[in-house]
Amino acid sequence: MISSRLLCCLTALLILPSSSNAADPDPLQDICIADLDAKISVNGFPCKSETEVTSDDFFFDLSEEGNLSNAFGRAVTEGNVHEFPGVNTQGISTNRVDLAVGGINPPHLHPRSSESSIVIRGTVLVGIITTDNVFYSKVVTAGMLFLIPRGLVHFQLNVGKENVLFFPSFNSQLPGTQFVHSSLFNTTPPIPNEVLTKTFLVGDEVINAIKAAITSAQLGHRPK
Ligand code: GLV
Ligand code: MN
Repeated sequence: MISSRLLCCLTALLILPSSSNAADPDPLQDICIADLDAKISVNGFPCKSETEVTSDDFFFDLSEEGNLSNAFGRAVTEGNVHEFPGVNTQGISTNRVDLAVGGINPPHLHPRSSESSIVIRGTVLVGIITTDNVFYSKVVTAGMLFLIPRGLVHFQLNVGKENVLFFPSFNSQLPGTQFVHSSLFNTTPPIPNEVLTKTFLVGDEVINAIKAAITSAQLGHRPK
């Protein structure tokens, strides 16, 4: 006879693969334009009334180059649900990334999404670091796609002679972006220096110098 504990384990095993393969939850209605002002909080946003939906809710303009005058020489224009409420409940979103010559989109990860990007212009070194610290990289040019598996640290560096343009797509309406440098050196409140000096095996002066440089830099990205 199967014990109830064993039955519980078997049930969990049956359920786990389907939920861990999923991206954002499937919609249960045709359209659900996010009501960003709604007072209630759900996993996503409530839908605005269908009587208020217009054609503009289904379109979003990523045609403009972002402002590249910042320390990293990059601009990320996000098309997540906050900027483009039409993607609410659809499990997708798209960004626009511009990199000046020599510009970098510094090492970061997306906790809730894989990323698939198409390069439109320029020459860009794409790097991916696995959880085993294996480093994969390639120089990609216009017309090429690159894939970043969900949750892995990655970066893009413009190694060409013209500005880079690429459009990353995500299987989440709100992929989240966590920059490695900011999450250690630019938190609120700051992580105690003792944690960082002991982690990086350096003195306070090194940590203070990095903290000062990062907090004063214009990052050219608004993390969500
Ligand atoms: C690029 O990697 C991006 O996340 O926009
Ligand atoms: Mn990314």
